[in-house]
Amino acid sequence: MSSSNPLRDAQDRRLPRIAGPSGLVIFGVTGDLSRKKLMPAVYDLANRGLLPPGFSLIGFARREWEDEDFADEVYRAVKEHSRTPFRDEVWQQLSQGMRFVQGDFDDDEAFETLKKTMQELDAAQGTGSNFAFYLSVPPKFFPLVVQQLKKHNLADQKDGSWRRAVIEKPFGHDLASAKDLNEIVHEVFAPDQVFRIDHYLGKETVQNILALRFANTLFEPVWNRSYVDHVQITMAEDIGIGGRAGYYDGIGAARDVIQNHLLQLLALTAMEEPAAFDANALAAEKTKVLGAVRLPKDLAKSTVRAQYAAGWQGGAKAVGYLEEEGIDPKSTTDTYAAVKLEIDNRRWAGVPFYLRTGKRLGRRVTEIAVVFQRAPHSPFDHTATEELGQNALVIRVQPDEGVTLRFGSKVPGTSLEVRDVSMDFAYGESFTESSPEAYERLILDVLLGDANLFPRTEEVELSWKILDPIEQFWAKHGKPAQYESGTWGPVEADDMLARDGRSWRRP
Ligand SMILES: NC(=O)c1ccc[n+]([C@@H]2O[C@H](COP(=O)([O-])OP(=O)(O)OC[C@H]3O[C@@H](n4cnc5c(N)ncnc54)[C@H](OP(=O)(O)O)[C@@H]3O)[C@@H](O)[C@H]2O)c1
Repeated sequence: MSSSNPLRDAQDRRLPRIAGPSGLVIFGVTGDLSRKKLMPAVYDLANRGLLPPGFSLIGFARREWEDEDFADEVYRAVKEHSRTPFRDEVWQQLSQGMRFVQGDFDDDEAFETLKKTMQELDAAQGTGSNFAFYLSVPPKFFPLVVQQLKKHNLADQKDGSWRRAVIEKPFGHDLASAKDLNEIVHEVFAPDQVFRIDHYLGKETVQNILALRFANTLFEPVWNRSYVDHVQITMAEDIGIGGRAGYYDGIGAARDVIQNHLLQLLALTAMEEPAAFDANALAAEKTKVLGAVRLPKDLAKSTVRAQYAAGWQGGAKAVGYLEEEGIDPKSTTDTYAAVKLEIDNRRWAGVPFYLRTGKRLGRRVTEIAVVFQRAPHSPFDHTATEELGQNALVIRVQPDEGVTLRFGSKVPGTSLEVRDVSMDFAYGESFTESSPEAYERLILDVLLGDANLFPRTEEVELSWKILDPIEQFWAKHGKPAQYESGTWGPVEADDMLARDGRSWRRP
C-alpha cells in the first residue's frame, strides 16, 4: 500500500538497496584480506540478491593464473569464509563474470589488458562501464595504482557511467603522508569517487550508536558534561601480531587502531546530531568534533605506550613482542596505546575521553563505555552504597554485540543495600536477522555510491593531527613500558587513570 507521501515511497529505507549494473576490480586479489573478507562478501551480497545479474569481478595480482584458477580460488574462499549458505545457482551466475588480469602494478601492458577486460565485460555482462577499483594492496602501492589508473584513463567517467576508488587502511602513517596521499588520489578522482575504508563503520553496532543517540529521547538529554563523568573507548585483542611482523613493526597500536577506528568511534559518540542522515551532514559533524579534540598538555601523564612481554594466553605460553619472529629485538613499536583526550566544546568541556587498544590483552573486546557521574546526593547510609559503582551505558561493538545499561538496585533482603545490576540488549536475542559482515555493507555502499560510512579527507587528516604530537613525543622520550601477555595492559595505564581518580573497566 502506498502512503500519501510519494517522496517517502521513493526513498523507503526499509526496501533492499540493490546495486545497479556494475563490476568490481580487486587489486591484490590473492592477498589475505581479499580471500578472507572481500571475495566472501561479494558472494554473500550475490546470495542475498543485492548484486545485479551481470555483476563482474576482476582480480589483479602477479600470480600466473588463468580465469579458471581465479574462479577456483574465489570458490575456495567463499566455501571457507562466506557468512551465508552456499547455493550452486548463485555461484554459477556469479562465476560467469569473473576474470583475472595478471601483472605487476608498474606493468603498463597489464593495465591495458585490464581496460580491455572491462570493455569485454561491458559487452558480455552489461556492466554499463560502472567499475569500482578496490586497492587491497600494501599501502606503499596506493599511489602507484592510482597513478596507473589515471595513465590508462581508467578513472574517466564517460556517458553517465561511474568509476570509484576504494582505499584500504592505513591511509598514510602521519599527517604529512596522509596529505600527500590525498593529493595524489584527488588528482585522479573527485572527492565523491573516493571511498576510504574504516571497516569499523560497516559494523551494525557502530551504526547503532547513531540510532541509539538520535532515534531515542532517553539518552541524549544526559549525553553531556552535566551528567557524563568520562568515556572509555576500548579495542582489545587477545592475539599477538601473528604473521604480520612486516606490516606491524614501525606502525604500532596507536597508528593501526587509534588513528582510524577509535577516533571514528569517538566522533560518533561525541558529535552533534546531523541535520540529515547523509554523507555530507555526517561528515560535517564528525569533522567538527574531531577538530575540537584537544590533547592534554602533559603527554607524559596522559599517554601510555607499551609492548607485550611473555606470559600466558588462553592456556598457552606466549612470547614477548621483541621475541616474535621478524621483529627487531630493539623495536620500540607500541603493541598497546592509551591516550586521554578532551573535547573543547560546550557539550564535553572537562569530560575526558580515554582511548586504549592493545594486543595480547585479557580478552577480545571492543566497547564504548559512557560512565555517568555519581548521584549528587545520596539519602542512603554510605555503607548501603559501598558496592555501588557509577552508572554506565556500554555499547558493545564486538564480539558480544549489544548495549548494557548499568545502574544500582536494592539487594533483596530486609536491610538496605544498593549494588550494581545490568540491563542488557543483545542483538542475537532481539533480532532474528544476522548482521551482515562489515565488508558486505561497505562494498554494497560503494556500488550504490553511498558514502555515509566512509571517512572523508578532512576526518583522516584531523585524526593524524591528533595523533602526530603523541607519536613525536613517544619517539623522543624513552622506551615503551611492558605488560605481561594475557593481562589488561601496563601498570602505567592504570596509573594514568588513577591520577584522575578513575580506573579502567575490565570488560
Ligand atoms: N589482512 C587484513 O586483515 C587487513 C585488515 C585491514 C586492512 N588491511 C589492508 O588491506 C590491504 C591488503 O592487505 P592484505 O593483508 O590482503 O595484504 P597481502 O596479503 O600482503 O596481499 C597483498 C596483495 O598485493 C599483491 N601485490 C603485492 N605487490 C604487488 C605488485 N608489485 N604488483 C601486483 N600485485 C602485488 C599480492 O599479490 P601477488 O603476490 O599474487 O602478486 C597480494 O595479492 C593492505 O592495505 C592492508 O593494510 C588488511
